[in-house]
Amino acid sequence: MKEIILKKFAEVFGDSQGVRVFFAPGRVNLIGEHTDYNGGHVFPCALTIGTYGAARKRTDNKLRFYSMNFDSLGVIESSLEDLVPADKAGWTNYPKGVMWAFQEKGMKIPCGMDILLNGNIPNGSGLSSSASVEVLTGAILREFFGFEVTNQDLALIGQYSENKFNGVNCGIMDQFAIAMGKKDNAIFLDTADLSYEYAPLILKGAKIVIACSNKKRGLGDSKYNERRSECETALAELQKEVQIGSLGDLDEETFEKHKGAIQSDVRRKRAKHAVYENRRTIRAVEALKKGDIAEFGSLMNASHVSLRDDYEVTGMELDTLVEEAWKIDGVIGSRMTGAGFGGCTVSIVKDEAIDRFIESVGEAYKKRIGYAADFYVVEIGGGPAVLD
Ligand code: GLA
Repeated sequence: MKEIILKKFAEVFGDSQGVRVFFAPGRVNLIGEHTDYNGGHVFPCALTIGTYGAARKRTDNKLRFYSMNFDSLGVIESSLEDLVPADKAGWTNYPKGVMWAFQEKGMKIPCGMDILLNGNIPNGSGLSSSASVEVLTGAILREFFGFEVTNQDLALIGQYSENKFNGVNCGIMDQFAIAMGKKDNAIFLDTADLSYEYAPLILKGAKIVIACSNKKRGLGDSKYNERRSECETALAELQKEVQIGSLGDLDEETFEKHKGAIQSDVRRKRAKHAVYENRRTIRAVEALKKGDIAEFGSLMNASHVSLRDDYEVTGMELDTLVEEAWKIDGVIGSRMTGAGFGGCTVSIVKDEAIDRFIESVGEAYKKRIGYAADFYVVEIGGGPAVLD
């Protein structure tokens, strides 16, 4: 990959002298969905697929971007004086947002750069290609300009840029999973205080299979912000009766006792998901530590049901992928992953069932939805890296 992107860099920007090559992974969340902005737990991991970036400093303030995933867009030019979000800037709003965020936090970027990206995360799949680009950009800035930021800071800066520059009120999970990734480990993160623990994912003869629905997210971002504000209102209503800082502070029993304080059925369902999903995530990690993969899988399944019925972020495409997966012998657990409304499912599938899984789920999906899904057997990788 390094050779491919250096060659392309030289083709696009003249030569590849002084260019450095970087990598940041994509991520998949195993369980703990829509809990990260509710002070709950998440359990994601970084993948070996992600975004490669070749970058070089310039002697002026210009920024020139090129993505091998969007060849037809050609070189997109900007400058350090023009770090404002714009529709026409397309994907470059992500690296520009991170540059803006570094400057906001007092780290002045002294010169422009030429940056070429090539990602092998399937486009728009919900495996966090945008967070991957954000963390990658942070890693480039740190390396080039010696800013004293930890990987955790890169995650926080990435999230800040996504919230304030790109207008998506996302939680910390994606950027954290990417910046803090560790080979063969998932990350058990408490989003209330960012304490975390690595948990080796020992799947004993099974693998993680991602099924990409190929459904475009469309209104996803606005629905995401809507779910977030429904949870905020439900929290404010509960706070009139119980002393809590977030929905993640509640266990199931206390929630059931006080749920009457929430004034609408819809918000009660949203809050129920946030509370129960957080507890499921804690239990799932306990099960994994005990080597009880079957229990881990049934908690994944329960997570999907809750996301489908109470949080209502699945839709026909994701439900079809998951419900077809559940029918197959050798599937330990299957659920949607990420924001929902399209994107991917994650399944843990026994080695001997993987081919059958891809064939049967693929066929049933195409028949019901009318177009094909894509399948990826993935591995858990590390965080951002300089590939010198
Ligand atoms: C998106 C967001 C994350 C998280 C998930 C849902 O991926 O970026 O912060 O909220 O949705 O769990």
